[in-house]
Amino acid sequence: MGYENLIVEERGAVAKITVNRPDKLNALNVRTREEILAAFKDLTGNANVRVVVITGVGDKAFIAGADISEFAGRTALEQREIMQRSRAFDAMEDCPKPVIAMINGFALGGGCELAMACDIRIASAKAKFGQPEVKLGLIPGGGGTQRLSRLIGEGKAMELILTGDMIDAEEALRLGLVNQVVPPEELESRTMALANRIAELSPVALAMAKKSVKNAARTDLTCGLEAESDLFALCFASEDREEGVRAFLEKRKPIFTGK
Ligand code: COA
Repeated sequence: MGYENLIVEERGAVAKITVNRPDKLNALNVRTREEILAAFKDLTGNANVRVVVITGVGDKAFIAGADISEFAGRTALEQREIMQRSRAFDAMEDCPKPVIAMINGFALGGGCELAMACDIRIASAKAKFGQPEVKLGLIPGGGGTQRLSRLIGEGKAMELILTGDMIDAEEALRLGLVNQVVPPEELESRTMALANRIAELSPVALAMAKKSVKNAARTDLTCGLEAESDLFALCFASEDREEGVRAFLEKRKPIFTGK
C-alpha cells in the first residue's frame, strides 16, 4: 500500500512510523487509520523489524485526535461500520513486536488512545494529554474508557474523561500514563536508544512477554497465570531460549535470531 499520511522508515531493526498530516495536527482521518492498520500488518510480517516506534510529524502534535471534520453529517450506522472496519489500535496492541509511542506534542482523544495502545510511552516535556471528547458531545471511542482506567485507575481516568481537561507531561508521568518524560531535543535519541536496546533481545521472548502482560487486563488471574505458564514453557521451543541460557553460562553476549 502506498502511504498518503504516513512515513514508514526502517532504521536497522527498528521501524519508525510517522503520522504525517502537519496542517491538521496529525489528526486521524479514516484513511490514516487504515494506513496504520496496513503498516502494522506489513511490519508484523517483516522479520527484519523487531521494534516499532510511532510518532507524529513536527514538534507541535503527536496526534490531536480523530479528524473532527469527518464527524459532521455522519450517521450512527456509518460511524459503526467505520469503527468495525479499521481497528488500528487493536492491531497495534495485538502486534507481537514491542510498540513504543514517541510523544512529541498534543496527544488528545484518539491520539492519547493510540499512545495507550502502545506498550511503552516516552513523552517530550512539551507533550500534552487529554480525552476531550465530552466537549464535542462524544465519548472516547478508541479504547480510552477502558485503557485509561486500566493504566491510571478509575478515579483519575473518570476525572480526565468527564472534564475533558488537558494535563502536561509531568502530570502524565505522575499518573503513570507515560513511562518517561525527556527534554524535547532528546526525545528522538532517547526513544531510539530504548528501541534499539529492546531490539537486541529475543523476538520470541518479547512476543510471549507482551502477550502474557496483555492477558492481565483481558482475563482473570487464574486464566492469566495458566496462560503465563504455557507461554513460559513455549519459550523452550525456541532456539533463542537455548542461546540465551548458553550465552549466560558461557559469559558472553547472546545473539538472538527470532527462531
Ligand atoms: N481534527 C481535525 N482538525 C484538527 C484537529 C482534529 N482533531 N485538531 C486540530 N485540527 C486542525 C485545526 O482545525 C486547524 O486547521 P485549520 O488551520 O485548517 O483551521 C489546525 O489543525 C491547527 O489547529 P489549531 O486549532 O489552529 O491549533 P491551536 O494551537 O490553536 O490548538 C489544539 C491546538 C490541539 C488545542 C486544538 O487544535 C484542538 O483542540 N484540537 C482538537 C482536539 C480534540 O478535541 N481531539 C479529540 C477529537 S475526538
